[in-house]
Amino acid sequence: MNKIIDKLRADHRNLVKLLSVLKREIDSYANGGMADLELVSDILEYHQNFPDVCHHPTEDLIHECLKSRDPEAARAVGDLNREHEEMSVLCSRLALAVENILKEHGLPRDWFADVADEFLTFMNRHMKMEEVVFFPAAIRSLDDSDWASVEARLADKTDPVFDESDEARYESLRRSIMTAEEAA
Ligand SMILES: [Fe+2]
Ligand SMILES: [Fe+2]
Repeated sequence: MNKIIDKLRADHRNLVKLLSVLKREIDSYANGGMADLELVSDILEYHQNFPDVCHHPTEDLIHECLKSRDPEAARAVGDLNREHEEMSVLCSRLALAVENILKEHGLPRDWFADVADEFLTFMNRHMKMEEVVFFPAAIRSLDDSDWASVEARLADKTDPVFDESDEARYESLRRSIMTAEEAA
C-alpha cells in the first residue's frame, strides 16, 4: 500500500467526522435552535491550521507529479490547487460569519446557513473527486522516485486534533467528535 495516500485517506475520514459535527451545529442554528458556535469556530480554525497547511500542499505536490506522468489523468482531476484556494476562501468567509455572530452583530440565519452549505458542499464534492479520480490515478502513474520526492517535500506537521496531541484549545472539539461517534 502507499503510505502517503493512506495518510491522505485517513485525513479525509477525519474531515468527514468534523464536517458532520459542523453540519449538526449549523443545522441547529439555521433552524432557530441553539448552536455551539465556539465549537464551529474551533473546527474552522483547525481547518485553517492543518488541512490548509499540510493535507492540501501534499496533494498539490502529487498532482504536479501526475501532470508529467499522465497529463490526461491530471487534467481529469482539474485545477486542484485552485480548488484548494477556493476551499480556503470559503472556510475563511464562514469563519468570519461565525466571528460576527459571536460578536452579536447579528446575521440572518438563512444567509449564514447558505454560507455554511457552500463550504460543506464544496468540501464533500472535492474529497469524493479525490477518492474516485485523483488518488487512483496517482497510485497508477507515479513511480517510487515521485513518491520519494513528495515525501521529502512534505509539510510535516502534527495533526492538532486527531494525532496524539495535548493541545488544550481543541479539547472540546475532541470531546464532541467522540460524542458524535458514540451516538452513531
Ligand atoms: Fe484536496
Ligand atoms: Fe484531500
